[in-house]
Amino acid sequence: MQIIVNVNPRWGIGSENQLLVHIRADMRRFRSMTTDHTIIIGRKTLATFPNGKPLPNRENIIMTRDPAFSAEGAVVCRSEDELRNVLKERDPDAVFVCGGEQIYRQLLPYCSAAHITLSYTDAPADRFFPNLNLLPNWVLTEVGEKQYENGIGFRFLTYVNNDVRSL
Ligand SMILES: NC(=O)c1ccc[n+]([C@@H]2O[C@H](COP(=O)([O-])OP(=O)(O)OC[C@H]3O[C@@H](n4cnc5c(N)ncnc54)[C@H](OP(=O)(O)O)[C@@H]3O)[C@@H](O)[C@H]2O)c1
Repeated sequence: MQIIVNVNPRWGIGSENQLLVHIRADMRRFRSMTTDHTIIIGRKTLATFPNGKPLPNRENIIMTRDPAFSAEGAVVCRSEDELRNVLKERDPDAVFVCGGEQIYRQLLPYCSAAHITLSYTDAPADRFFPNLNLLPNWVLTEVGEKQYENGIGFRFLTYVNNDVRSL
């Protein structure tokens, strides 16, 4: 499994159940990396998607503990155990953990790489991604050029996990 996330310099990822920034180049990258593959998201992140619906052209796995929850066209997992069973039949390289905070924190140890968009915004956050610079098994392997869109600076980073656990 791999992670995709957009963080600010304090590793903030969201506020009031919304993203901190909207960078079209980042959205395009997200789309191209995940299309035809599998994404895993928490039920709260699903609510941030257009009309609260799963994203098209890829398999959406939604995590929720609500037994009554359903989302048309999506796979619903109510525990890590259920997720493990579903993922047995998937190519791990084609599975992307896409948030939010609760889901990133739980699945981080099982991910081999993290594709991070570092956005230079100081918008206040109430949801955070773990600071990978403080985790010795996560190593920064790629640092992209700083780019700008509508005055917001951003760059793409890749971190690799040298101690991937099995889910
Ligand atoms: N910057 C980025 O790249 C990025 C990406 C994605 C999301 N975000 C942001 O992250 C924020 C949302 O994060 P969040 O932490 O509040 O919520 P979240 O991780 O999206 O969803 C949390 C929900 O997932 C379900 N869940 C969690 N662990 C589970 C488990 N082990 N088994 C079954 N279900 C489980 C629960 O749903 P139930 O309550 O239904 O039981 C829980 O309330 C938003 O602000 C969003 O915009 C940012």
